[in-house]
Amino acid sequence: MYVLGIETSCDETGVAIYHSQQGLIQHVLYSQVDMHNEYGGVVPELASRDHIRKLIPLIDESLQAAKINKSEIGGIAYTAGPGLIGALLVGAAVATGLAWAWQIPAIAVHHMEGHLLAPMLEPNPPAFPFVALLISGGHTLLVEVNKIGDYEILGESLDDAAGEAFDKTAKLLGLGYPGGPRLSALAEQGEPRFKFPRPMTDRPGLDFSFSGLKTFTLNTYHASTKSQQDKADIAASFQQAVAETLAIKCKRALQQTGIKRLVVAGGVSANKQIRALLTLVAEKEKAEIYFPRPEFCTDNGAMIAYAGCQRLLLGESRSLAILAKARWPISQLKSVV
Ligand code: KG4
Ligand code: ZN
Repeated sequence: MYVLGIETSCDETGVAIYHSQQGLIQHVLYSQVDMHNEYGGVVPELASRDHIRKLIPLIDESLQAAKINKSEIGGIAYTAGPGLIGALLVGAAVATGLAWAWQIPAIAVHHMEGHLLAPMLEPNPPAFPFVALLISGGHTLLVEVNKIGDYEILGESLDDAAGEAFDKTAKLLGLGYPGGPRLSALAEQGEPRFKFPRPMTDRPGLDFSFSGLKTFTLNTYHASTKSQQDKADIAASFQQAVAETLAIKCKRALQQTGIKRLVVAGGVSANKQIRALLTLVAEKEKAEIYFPRPEFCTDNGAMIAYAGCQRLLLGESRSLAILAKARWPISQLKSVV
């Protein structure tokens, strides 16, 4: 069965075709970064309008590139939330409209479930159960994953998400948008010589708090000479603080659950230093570690097509409703079987 996947939760229009036996057939991503760059961040209304312009041409392009006729598509998976409501509505309305027209099921996919299952697109996917660290622009979650839809939250951010902390800190340092990749590129030219805190690591528990790091960055920056090298050193110190904090919490989560598999996904998991440090933690804990390839760490249609396909195969029932939820805790998902 071919499943069309549609992702429009934020500033990227993603379309993919996944086949239940053959795997990923095709995926395309259109990024709105250049458009939002001018404003220093994502402008929700512009994001929605651009999804409207790009989505149907990208679906056409994907079907043509894969040499698949629309009559061969067995289901359409779309991101139903969480995300920007206008942007979500574009994907949800197009997906549901096409599903009605083509007389096939539309499956509403949770964006973070998409991220969580992204490593399944790789040649050596993890088996269940596993501990997942999800680090994106809107979420920082540690989850015990027993099977698809069976998610127990072990810890989460009490304030800024990890990606949000990268983005806000980048803005403070004048690096612009998108902040995460820019801050991480600058960090590679610096030394982590400033002593940043590792928030909430001095007490038990698996929750996170990253908002204090941006204040710390600002104070450190003002007390520095503000040279390019100082900026790079501050970026490196910030990045190391986030990486070590995540590493400490992942180690605790592995020890607490006794699970020997760690999955790391979401936009921030593209970060090289975070990947390297978490790989070391897994080695020390004798656990296996799984990351999606960098293009499937950030938002994409492939992870949505995959998640929707699995839910369809598990017998998730067809819904005629157009579902879009700006807020949608992943703990509310139900396992299909
Ligand atoms: O998963 P994602 O593409 O979108 C959301 O679901 O939010 O994550 C985007 C986040 C942004 O905050 C972005 O700055 C961050 O991931 N990000 C990075 C890197 N690449 C993307 N953060 C740190 N280092 C990176 N290399
Ligand atoms: Zn995402």
